Amino acid sequence: MRKINSVLSGLAMIASASFVSANCDPGEIVAKLSHVTGGTTHPKVVAANNFAERVNKELNGKMCVEVYPNSTLFGDSKELEALLLGDVQLLAPSLSKFGSYTDKFGVFDLPFIFKDIDAAISFTQSKEGKNLLNDMENVGFVGLGYWMSGMKYFSANKPLILPSDAAGLKFRVQTSDVAKAMIKAMDASPQPMAFAEVYGALQTGVVDGQENTWSNIYTQKFYEVQDSTTETNHQLLAYLFMTSTEFLDSLDKQTRATFIKIADDVTMEANLAVKAAEAKNRQNILDAGGKINVLTPEQRQKWVDAMSPAWKQFEKQIGADLIKAAASH
Ligand code: LMR
Repeated sequence: MRKINSVLSGLAMIASASFVSANCDPGEIVAKLSHVTGGTTHPKVVAANNFAERVNKELNGKMCVEVYPNSTLFGDSKELEALLLGDVQLLAPSLSKFGSYTDKFGVFDLPFIFKDIDAAISFTQSKEGKNLLNDMENVGFVGLGYWMSGMKYFSANKPLILPSDAAGLKFRVQTSDVAKAMIKAMDASPQPMAFAEVYGALQTGVVDGQENTWSNIYTQKFYEVQDSTTETNHQLLAYLFMTSTEFLDSLDKQTRATFIKIADDVTMEANLAVKAAEAKNRQNILDAGGKINVLTPEQRQKWVDAMSPAWKQFEKQIGADLIKAAASH
């Protein structure tokens, strides 16, 4: 990475705000890291930037990471194909976006399977969780680590206190069959949609609600176009920090070892920091005038009862043993 930015490259950066510059030198391997989230306080933004910073320092002269946040290089619908085509080298998609490649990741989407982020982290560190990192090797995907984002909460254009309040509403979901089934179990309609389109869809009434973490609700400003968010804690949002087999295999042994070590370190740091980031963004929503509905244990139990039937429906596809292993944390 060049130490001094030229005026010209500085101007180019301003002209193209999407590009988080690394000023790669000729001869350096350029690894583009594309993701869909934004803001400065989002756990994925922080982890992606930390990864780039470490690589650009420790592999200076060999490899250079450029980060493209906010769907500016690739959005949800294209990024996995782009990785296989070699148009991008690093991604961190939500685990709910791999339905075209594997059924097993559905385990992460089962409602209420993890009581909190610590349980999810503990599962990802277990033998079963680690095995899933390489579940899509046959496709050409390599999992470098799981980055937690947070638990998810429902928001809508009216207060949601009981699941019956959601009946008849249209909710934006990720492209996950489990998420679709879960919404249907609430007598509501799921509408799969790319992340970059959610704010506009909520604003114009194309959908009535959505489900996400505090960090996404804050950094995408969903609270501005929703009545309130309900603290349902119903599902996990986590990412697969990943590359392609082709890219990893193209690195020499030493570079690959350093690259993997940095990925491990950044993953660990990101997961240690995630709860604080979520708490901060929850408070940021309140400070910005967003409303949060806190449920009593009895009210929350009604959400559990409404959504849990999705488990049985996906048992065969995901595998009963895997579900049991994840639920045991
Ligand atoms: C979503 O589509 O709601 C999330 O997966 C976005 C993200 O990457 O956090």
